[in-house]
Amino acid sequence: MSFPQVRPRRLRTTPAVRRLVAEVSLEPRQLVLPMFVRDGIDAAVPISSMPGVLQHTTDSLRAAAEEAVRAGVGGLMLFGVPDDADKDAEGSASWDPDGVLNRALRVLREDLGDATVLMADTCLDEFTDHGHCGVLDERGRVDNDATLERYALMGVAQAEAGAHMLGPSGMMDGQIGVLREALDAAGHEDVSLFAYTAKYASAFYGPFREAVGSSLEGDRRTYQQDAANRRESLRELELDLAEGADLVMVKPAMSYLDVLSDVAAASPVPVAAYQISGEYAMITAAAQNGWIDRDAAVRESLLSIRRAGADIVLSYWAVEAAQRIARGQW
Ligand code: PBG
Repeated sequence: MSFPQVRPRRLRTTPAVRRLVAEVSLEPRQLVLPMFVRDGIDAAVPISSMPGVLQHTTDSLRAAAEEAVRAGVGGLMLFGVPDDADKDAEGSASWDPDGVLNRALRVLREDLGDATVLMADTCLDEFTDHGHCGVLDERGRVDNDATLERYALMGVAQAEAGAHMLGPSGMMDGQIGVLREALDAAGHEDVSLFAYTAKYASAFYGPFREAVGSSLEGDRRTYQQDAANRRESLRELELDLAEGADLVMVKPAMSYLDVLSDVAAASPVPVAAYQISGEYAMITAAAQNGWIDRDAAVRESLLSIRRAGADIVLSYWAVEAAQRIARGQW
């Protein structure tokens, strides 16, 4: 009878041993909280498909942002939800200094200064009446280069309002280069570009569409990537780096961990992944049905994203996770 000489199980015997040999861990500073601020409401509105996530008023946003900073999260990513009456074909409320997102950025920057990293979604979809991430040409197609001109206006307005980083999420070709040029020309050399480098057309964005009151009909398949493709993300990475991306992101996280791993292996700049609305909704719904252990599933999902190579994780659980980590529960 031969006995195994090598016993990997020895390193799994106690929680202390497992903690000692863990290859990756979670730290509050690595977590970024996406937040929604909505115009024209006087109390925060729950998002039904994302139980526990709110559309904030400016006041509730300030309180939630303060709580997040106290919990030690690494940054906040802000999305604006304008009144339907303020949407137009161009998304012009996105570069209006008095638009909902720019007002919120200004207030949060005043409140928080440099205590956190304030990030802004730089994309037109919340602000256009057709819901696309860009402007349309006469045939109804998303016009890449005409959209870039609007991104430049929006990005500069966000920098003026106090954003430390811009998150262009629209997947227009050349968006990083155009934003870099526009920021520099306006004297915002210090404002960073957090590039949505590999962003896939995903069914898992469903709950986000409710979160931002999206007007979209149809889909984003002519600008976001096809789920069948892996290698293409390295091309997107090369372009974003050449155009001046300071950080790069893969989105969604789950279902794209192979892409994340490739990008992490190739990237000379910090890499993030976005655990999106559908990922949040699925775990939450299964847990509400009593089908999975919610806390363990949340932790496991976050660890898997770190293990695949993300330095930074955007997650709607950022604050809760940070608090658990600080209490030594995770
Ligand atoms: C577009 C944008 C989307 C998300 C972030 N930015 C939606 C989309 O591309 O359709 C999705 C985030 C999430 O699902 O949590 N500005």
